[in-house]
Amino acid sequence: MNKHITLIIFIHILFFSIACSNKDKNKTNNSSSNKTSVKKDAKKSASAAQLNKAAQLIAGVSATDIAAVNAAAVFKKNCASCHGLKGDMALSGAKKLTESTASLVEKVAQIYHGKGLMIPYKNVLKDAEIIAVAKYVEQLR
Ligand code: HEC
Repeated sequence: MNKHITLIIFIHILFFSIACSNKDKNKTNNSSSNKTSVKKDAKKSASAAQLNKAAQLIAGVSATDIAAVNAAAVFKKNCASCHGLKGDMALSGAKKLTESTASLVEKVAQIYHGKGLMIPYKNVLKDAEIIAVAKYVEQLR
């Protein structure tokens, strides 16, 4: 019986060490330079493709659809928890929206694609809601 348990433990240790050595291999194969470039990308502001997409969104939504959105309510429900009701709060690393110098396109890109601790809202809000709330944020300044 004791022998049995020892054998099982031995097999576990064996598999564990094989798994660990494979992990290390993957690490070296991927090379550490990849890691640094990923980090850099995460810090960069919206990419050209993201800004392009944002500009398309702004061009594609009609003024009537934007006007139909209760932007204040959208902001209160989705954004105020980090940015504050007046956009002057900075929780979870958020920026004070009252001090934001980002353009409308940059704001739409940030809301649509997300960044840092802020989630992307492309699947949460409708296009018209994203643009309406970005315009609402402009007014908070
Ligand atoms: C979980 C917290 C959180 C929520 C909720 C949130 N944000 Fe943010 N927001 C952030 C953070 C963090 C940043 C800074 C991201 C960075 O630059 O790394 C940010 C940045 C921004 C910026 C860019 C400001 C600038 O000058 O660069 C805008 C615009 C913005 N948020 C609007 C919104 C809107 C509109 C909503 C709601 C639809 C919202 N946020 C919801 C955390 C949040």
